[in-house]
Amino acid sequence: TSPFAPRHFLSIADLTPAEFTTLVRNASQHKKTIKSGSVPRNLLGALSGKTVAMMFSKRSTRTRISTEGAVAQLGGQPMFLGKDDIQLGVNESLYDTSVVISSMVSAIVARVNSHDDVASLAKHSTVPVINALCDLYHPLQIIADFLTIHESFHARPTAGLNSLGMEGLKIAWIGDANNVLFDMAIAAAKMGVDLAVATPKGYEIPQTMLDIIKQAGAGVSSPGKLIQTNVPEEAVKDADVLVTDTWVSMGQEEESARRIKAFEGFQITPELAQRGGAKRDWKFMHCLPRHPEEVSDEVFYSHRSLVFPEAENRLWAAISALEGFVVNKGKIN
Ligand code: CP
Ligand code: NVA
Repeated sequence: TSPFAPRHFLSIADLTPAEFTTLVRNASQHKKTIKSGSVPRNLLGALSGKTVAMMFSKRSTRTRISTEGAVAQLGGQPMFLGKDDIQLGVNESLYDTSVVISSMVSAIVARVNSHDDVASLAKHSTVPVINALCDLYHPLQIIADFLTIHESFHARPTAGLNSLGMEGLKIAWIGDANNVLFDMAIAAAKMGVDLAVATPKGYEIPQTMLDIIKQAGAGVSSPGKLIQTNVPEEAVKDADVLVTDTWVSMGQEEESARRIKAFEGFQITPELAQRGGAKRDWKFMHCLPRHPEEVSDEVFYSHRSLVFPEAENRLWAAISALEGFVVNKGKIN
């Protein structure tokens, strides 16, 4: 890479713990400022006259709205490029597409299928590429999720300047080991948050990803611990937050019947929380979209559920990520 290569945001693994903390804290600060009716001075018109390409080869509600909204908030023009709008994949290579698009815009937000695709897009792009979900990672979601946890458990006394005050919290992930979980595990390792993951047999975190997660905690003074089990109750024990996601990610539709069968018994319910011994004030999170088999209505629409603030936080996370990677060109401090 040349010294002028832009800094890309493909995974939480690209951030130091201090940088991740800054992105979450800035998201929180901008949320307060903008909701009170003003705009932080450094964001006012920060992308004025600039275009951000939004390359989405998969469906999206939250990611599209939050990233397009964030570009607009900063005074820029989001340009949505769905899979049927551009030549990519049908008539033009990723290399040519990347070189051409990046020659005309200030940043690229990309939702693709395989991580290799977003990585090669980044490799050949002359402007920052922000990953809007691939098969391995979903970094914008995880900034929003940690903001949501931070807001919900903000009274923790340990919060220092370089911390979100989350050390010692325990997250239980009950469901599929997927892209959202992988970036969550990387963030948890970096931030000293323990994570217990329960998946059915055969759906565990792959070894290559376990190595990446372990690497994320290397050099952190007390990295969050990761445990894996095939028993949901075991993961739930003493958890502060119970989290899940779809059992059938986009692109896995053909496996749908087999997966739904394999995940039987993994629905998050009040009974599961009770049997497993979750903390008394446990909360529930889900990146959405949600299907009833993953979590009962009783939990999903209860006072324990953080899903709607979590969804809204996608906007504040997107503003913070654009500030860090596009406005400030990757200088996050
Ligand atoms: N959580 C999330 O990324 O949702 P969308 O697929 O609707 O963007
Ligand atoms: N794991 C899901 C997340 C959607 C936001 C998927 O990849 O489809």
